[in-house]
Amino acid sequence: MEYKELSNGFKIPVIGLGTWLMGGGREPDYSKDDKEIKAIKEAIKLGYTHLDTAEMYAVGHTEELIGKAIKKINKSKLFITTKVTNEHLHYEDVINSAKASMKRMKIKYIDLYLIHAPNPEIPIKETMNAMNYLIEQKLVRYIGVSNFTTKQMIEAQKVSKSKIVVNQIEYSLLTRNQGKYGSNNNMELETVPYCQENNIIIMAERPIERGLLLKSHPILDKLEQKYGKTKAQIAINWLISKKNIVTIPKSSNVEHMKENLGALGWKLSNKDVKLLDETNFESLKE
Ligand SMILES: NC(=O)c1ccc[n+]([C@@H]2O[C@H](COP(=O)([O-])OP(=O)(O)OC[C@H]3O[C@@H](n4cnc5c(N)ncnc54)[C@H](OP(=O)(O)O)[C@@H]3O)[C@@H](O)[C@H]2O)c1
Repeated sequence: MEYKELSNGFKIPVIGLGTWLMGGGREPDYSKDDKEIKAIKEAIKLGYTHLDTAEMYAVGHTEELIGKAIKKINKSKLFITTKVTNEHLHYEDVINSAKASMKRMKIKYIDLYLIHAPNPEIPIKETMNAMNYLIEQKLVRYIGVSNFTTKQMIEAQKVSKSKIVVNQIEYSLLTRNQGKYGSNNNMELETVPYCQENNIIIMAERPIERGLLLKSHPILDKLEQKYGKTKAQIAINWLISKKNIVTIPKSSNVEHMKENLGALGWKLSNKDVKLLDETNFESLKE
């Protein structure tokens, strides 16, 4: 596994495993539990060490599946990110959420704890105080945010003793500046450069846009031929070729997991990164 590192020593795998829809979406779905537990175990065997999840995924059931999958694994070899939902951002709620996530995953600490999304109804200082308390208690190693604009990140950092090391945002060849989640816009124009200049990791969610980036497109078709790599590998390589960007493609399919890891160990040329930077992929949405 390759890593990206910040100057404060925070180090994170370049590719992690996303887990949204494992064990359900907005409701738990227990029908494929055995398959999903097996998939997570397979991913770890293949070399994934970073698992990205959230208390909101399948209302906690995704975390339960992770707990079952990692039961016999040395936790110090894993890097686990989870998120507190934006309805739980009052002081006590944040602490209770973190403890409940740890209980579901049967872990003693969370490597990276993120605020899933901003909530303008709850003072950010209150939330950050709780995030800092979790660090002081060694229940959480690092803290970060998700779906935050630059302004929201700056406000959160101002009232936090510990550094915000990650902003997890929707970012891919297709998303660029237009997110699907509320205020999550201007990622490329603003959030990404701000993070790159301020020692913050950007964790790109939806790196293959749930399959849209696997569709035929003249530039992707051409690069696929040129490098002998698949479209998923090109889309992921483009992301991780950039300063401070890591990503978390989700897959429950071993072949897809292997394919996505195949985005490591080679590089798009600077010229092709620029070509992809300058290409509009909007037609893939049709
Ligand atoms: N913070 C947030 O608000 C937020 C929002 C969205 C996502 N996320 C995180 O980011 C992760 C990734 O985003 P995502 O799951 O929405 O989208 P994604 O990773 O872009 O796409 C996942 C979908 O693509 C398929 N897939 C993956 N690799 C493939 C491959 N090589 N070939 C063909 N199909 C492939 C998967 O199916 P198979 O399982 O069959 O492979 C799944 O249906 C999430 O799982 C979650 O952890 C966070």
